[in-house]
Amino acid sequence: MFHTTFYLRRLHSLVGLLVLGMVLFEHIFTNSMALGGAPVLNGALATMELIPKPIFLALEVGAIAVPLLFHAIYGIYICRQANNNPGRYGYVRNWQFAFQRWTAWLLVFFLAWHVFDLRIFTKAISGTPISYELLHSMFTGNPIIAVLYIIGMFAAIFHFCNGITTFCMTWGIAKGPRIQNVVSLCSMGLCALLCLITLVFMGSYFVM
Ligand code: HEM
Repeated sequence: MFHTTFYLRRLHSLVGLLVLGMVLFEHIFTNSMALGGAPVLNGALATMELIPKPIFLALEVGAIAVPLLFHAIYGIYICRQANNNPGRYGYVRNWQFAFQRWTAWLLVFFLAWHVFDLRIFTKAISGTPISYELLHSMFTGNPIIAVLYIIGMFAAIFHFCNGITTFCMTWGIAKGPRIQNVVSLCSMGLCALLCLITLVFMGSYFVM
């Protein structure tokens, strides 16, 4: 039992950092193409469409859906055990611990909505291709949706970046308070940078 929990936690940690981290970077990279306007973003989306459909679907299921479901389900189990106490102690680390859990809950709802709306309903069921024009009318037509997307992206970015610090602690990469503070500062710097990039490409829909 102890061994199963140990290995499940390690797998949860690896999946979060490596697999979902790659998905997050790919998402930010592709979506930042919106800064170049419709031709650039549509071109990037069209390049992905060049991957043969069965391989693309296998990648979506094997490299995104299954790891995400495992990380989310086991993560909910961890969250339900977590004892958040930022008010009692108020240390930065305690707040980061609490935010890691709160953003996890937020991501459950945001990702369910995002995946169902764009991938399942719009693309698979309605047969509407995802394009710059579609995203542009979705965000500018109802800015509340744009705000919800920005909140969801910020939650994913914080969860991932703070996860880099906890990952380094879990795996014994950062031992001792000094190095842990350095890793934490660097990952929060990355968090600020990725949030800024997200804000800029989301904002570009409203000015172009
Ligand atoms: C879908 C909902 C999600 C839930 C419920 C969830 C839950 C959790 C929880 C509870 C932890 C802390 C584990 C611990 O303290 O041992 C965690 C860690 C982590 N998560 Fe998530 N997560 C979700 C989505 C994501 C996404 C989308 C990413 C990537 C963008 C991600 C990346 C990470 C990373 C890198 C860690 C740190 C692993 C470690 O501490 O070793 N998670 N997640």
